[in-house]
Amino acid sequence: AAPGRSIHYGAVLHFLADPGAKPNPDTWQLFDPGALVVGADGHVEWAGPEGEIPPELGDGTPVDHRGQLIVPGFVDTHLHASQVDVIASFGEQLLEWLEKYVFPAEKAFAAGDHAQLVSSLFLDTLLASGTTTAMVHPTVHKTSVDALFEEARKRSMRILSGKVLMDREPYAPPDLKDPSVEQAEADTRELIGRWHNKDRLTYSITPRFAPTSTEALLQMVGRVYQEFPDLWLQTHAAENKEEVETVRELFGGRSYIDVYDRYGMLGGRSLYAHSIYIDDQDRTRLAQTGSTIAFCPTSNLFLGSGLFDLDAARGAGVRVGLGTDVGGGTSYSLLVTLNEAYKVLALQQQKLSALRGFYLATLGGAEALHFEDRIGNFQPRKEADFVVLDWAATPVLKRRTEVAKDFQERLFALMTLGDERAIRATYVLGQLRYDRGQGIASP
Ligand code: GUN
Ligand code: ZN
Repeated sequence: AAPGRSIHYGAVLHFLADPGAKPNPDTWQLFDPGALVVGADGHVEWAGPEGEIPPELGDGTPVDHRGQLIVPGFVDTHLHASQVDVIASFGEQLLEWLEKYVFPAEKAFAAGDHAQLVSSLFLDTLLASGTTTAMVHPTVHKTSVDALFEEARKRSMRILSGKVLMDREPYAPPDLKDPSVEQAEADTRELIGRWHNKDRLTYSITPRFAPTSTEALLQMVGRVYQEFPDLWLQTHAAENKEEVETVRELFGGRSYIDVYDRYGMLGGRSLYAHSIYIDDQDRTRLAQTGSTIAFCPTSNLFLGSGLFDLDAARGAGVRVGLGTDVGGGTSYSLLVTLNEAYKVLALQQQKLSALRGFYLATLGGAEALHFEDRIGNFQPRKEADFVVLDWAATPVLKRRTEVAKDFQERLFALMTLGDERAIRATYVLGQLRYDRGQGIASP
């Protein structure tokens, strides 16, 4: 065999574009029986029907996933590495939940050993959930960024992150604040120098959200963001009614999105998690500027935040990715997230097909993060991040997919009933990083 080439046999599903509300058959490909050929460099060489592997690629180590489904690695566009210990905390909506549970947990990240331990656990959990790319909030501490990026690098994962910025009391507690805007900028620049574009890591300037930010902080954020053409920006927007009212009182402006717009924060490579309480003018601005929304259904239901209008956002041409938003969200699994997304949309008379769901978790996420040239599907030369899914992960799933009359019905059962138990294996850059039987491949 050619050194390092591997040929993965199984059903192969990927997307070329958004299938839309009524799946357009030109937007997706299913090869069953299929094969995925991965080169020694961890990039895709070819995907197609098992019987049509080009002769010059036939020489590789075979890996048998027959009877299972191979899809591109999942993309989680929004979650918090700092909230591993507060997932499933009882009884509060956003602002009280932050104060009561989140901020105390985030204070612990000042200690490097805690940050390292939790970041390692966090990334292993992503891999066990089939997630290979994620946009992540750590904490205000530089140690939290270093720990997350170091651990991500060991696993070759594509992670976007950056130091959380907070400087406004009482929304940010006094002992979890940047001492000054100057120091926040200096720390951010130091971390950009250390991590931005190193291997698969991308720096994202991370003001937590408007209520924890002074005007001077948001001005600095907009300025630094505009200075680097490929720097990302991530924050939260319009998640909760009380939060929206607070922002109106603190900043005025036409809308919450308009406040961020005022500071030059909108643009390609900027992400606004939630964006539930927005209007058509906001959607037009987000679309015009190439900004992204992270749709986080388990979190929006758990925190009682509200229902995100996907059709309106996509209809306006806004990029939308899925986010688990752990620890506001209640699962690291994008399958579970899709199951909840379906319900959030059902409550608004919208329908999420399985094809569109899997598109959102893969190529849609890649597009949302402007990485569609590198990841998201199995076109040649893409990075070979992929997941092997088990149709028979549980007795209920096994039975339901056996009696299904066609592929789309089976896929819908997998989307609705699946969770981390359905992740048979996760590969990053062609390398096995998680196996359900063996556990995590040590980094
Ligand atoms: N808004 C500001 N901070 C947070 C956070 O940590 N989680 C969520 N869901 N919303 C936020
Ligand atoms: Zn969040």
